Amino acid sequence: MNPPTIPVVDVRPAATHFESIGAEPAVIRIVDAFYRQMDTRPEAREIRAMHGPDLAPVKAVLVRYLCEWLGGPKHYSVERGHPRLRMRHAAFPIGAAERDAWLACMRAALDETGTDCALRDMLMQAFFRIADWMRNTGN
Ligand code: HEM
Repeated sequence: MNPPTIPVVDVRPAATHFESIGAEPAVIRIVDAFYRQMDTRPEAREIRAMHGPDLAPVKAVLVRYLCEWLGGPKHYSVERGHPRLRMRHAAFPIGAAERDAWLACMRAALDETGTDCALRDMLMQAFFRIADWMRNTGN
């Protein structure tokens, strides 16, 4: 008689998106590429103009936000509290054109940094939902 089969249980915790993407160094590369895209794409000129000349401070904040959002360390909320992104963006007129410009920069940044296609598509869907919810101009 055959011995009973012991079910193989994978006890490793599922990797977070943060780990799958390559942790903080990868997020830094994506954010650098994202703002480089914003600096150069004609359709992003208006959203670039909403930012100050020096992008270093907002880059650092976006890195911390994305690390946390992807399941990594919670440095963003320790430093800045609840993201309240709609409230924090209320001063900037965001309609469909601004949303799409933001998403185009992010899509190009994910492509440029070689993010896995399946992960990229999933993140883009999630970014679409967040960016669409941020619209505040009625268009
Ligand atoms: C939809 C179009 C968007 C526009 C036009 C926009 C524009 C801006 C601007 C002008 C700032 C302030 C930069 C500064 O302080 O100099 C900002 C901050 C920020 N944005 Fe956006 N944004 C957009 C979408 C998004 C999305 C989809 C996310 C997240 C996935 C996001 C995350 C952030 C974060 C985390 C900050 C810093 C917030 C803080 O101060 O704690 N933004 N954004």
